[in-house]
Amino acid sequence: MAADMTAETVSRPTFRKGFETLEAEVSLDALPVEGMIPEWLTGTLLRNGPAKFEVGERRLEHWFDGLAMLHKFSFGGGTVSYANRFLRSRAFEAAERRGAISYSEFATDPCRSIFRRAATLFRPKLTDNCNVNLTRLGDEYVAMTETPMPVAFDPETLETLGVSFRPPGMHATAHPHHDPERNELIAYVTHFGPRSEYRLFAQSDRSRQRRIASRRVAEPSYMHSFALTERFIVLVAFPLVVNPLELALSGKPFIANYRWKPERGTGVLVFDRADGSLRGVHEAEPCFSFHHVNAFERGGELVLDMAAYEDATVIDSLYLDQVRSTRGATAPTARLWRYRIDLERGGVDEEALSEAPLELPRIDYRERNGRPYRYVYGTGAASVEEGGEFLDRLVKIDVTTGAAAEWREAGSFPGEPVFVPSPRPDRAEDEGVLLSVVLDARDTSYLLVLDAGSLEELGRARVPHHIPFGFHGQYFS
Ligand SMILES: [Fe+2]
Repeated sequence: MAADMTAETVSRPTFRKGFETLEAEVSLDALPVEGMIPEWLTGTLLRNGPAKFEVGERRLEHWFDGLAMLHKFSFGGGTVSYANRFLRSRAFEAAERRGAISYSEFATDPCRSIFRRAATLFRPKLTDNCNVNLTRLGDEYVAMTETPMPVAFDPETLETLGVSFRPPGMHATAHPHHDPERNELIAYVTHFGPRSEYRLFAQSDRSRQRRIASRRVAEPSYMHSFALTERFIVLVAFPLVVNPLELALSGKPFIANYRWKPERGTGVLVFDRADGSLRGVHEAEPCFSFHHVNAFERGGELVLDMAAYEDATVIDSLYLDQVRSTRGATAPTARLWRYRIDLERGGVDEEALSEAPLELPRIDYRERNGRPYRYVYGTGAASVEEGGEFLDRLVKIDVTTGAAAEWREAGSFPGEPVFVPSPRPDRAEDEGVLLSVVLDARDTSYLLVLDAGSLEELGRARVPHHIPFGFHGQYFS
């Protein structure tokens, strides 16, 4: 019996801790550091992700539903400070006050009577639980999810400052692009209604919004991110689609209304940034992706790189009951796919650039977004057949050769690697560091600093608690 218990303890997948609630909020001047943090690293890494998975007696259903927490790592003189705070969104405050889920999340709805449901038709009480990503907009820092309610916060204290700008629709992206020339964010939003539309817009501060383009769509696609090149905005409409009327009437949580219709193929919509005109709609094989990696123009070609799946079952695999109940990974694995689109004749050529798994991809965004590039960094997991667990490695792929390198450590589960360029003039594309929050077998997390060129560890700074698996972060110098 004792031997069996030991075996059970040993074989327990440690990644499950990453889906457990963290209640503690701390502020620490210096984390214990092993190794060396580069002296030139003097900025702040802000990260976002879910950290609370129960409200009162109820459990949230999906990884994407957890209540948002901000984490802040500041660097200077080889030291690392750390602080974390829940985002005091209206959804969080209501959960605390009432002990009940009060807003509609991605895959969890509040309990509602049929009368309440009828009253909220087409006016759902959308959540402002911004747990996906964050960015700077003018002088403001905002946390974002896929509802049109980004929430501003103080980057020093992590104090919540309330809803910021309002995207002109209902299903927004948490992955806006930044246009450095106009210093504005570019994003899309899906408007649902009798005449549903994709709307492209630019936002330069809380109040200044500029509409770029609109496109009618009968059954909008679930899209999480998009691509920006020097001349184009590219939406990739995967065949995971929703009937807007069903979305309004079904009484099901948001994502449960979407249907996989592979017969539709994947539509690549290319818009001209200058005048908003639709330059082409190109049809590709059915696939699904959360994350675009990069896109650029080359000759008469549009090159589009994505971390793509064969279908959208990855969403189902990330329900918390599902992900917690498995001994190892059951989530499908994304790979780096390249679409080459002939802008004149319209053909789409699709090819996997590497066999390496790739999710939560990052590039040298400031220098390379929208332009030819060589390196992408991300997380990866071995496939189910290979006995892999949850995202258990960091990967780096040379997109020009498909060659992949990885960083792994037994029992460690790293998050999205954020690339920070070295300040050296004329540096190589991969000269810099990768910053990743890693959960390990001690059931606590640490901030890992890797050399982005070699993927060798430079140092790590341990946090006194576990950090639940998060999504995205940004480094501010
Ligand atoms: Fe994302």
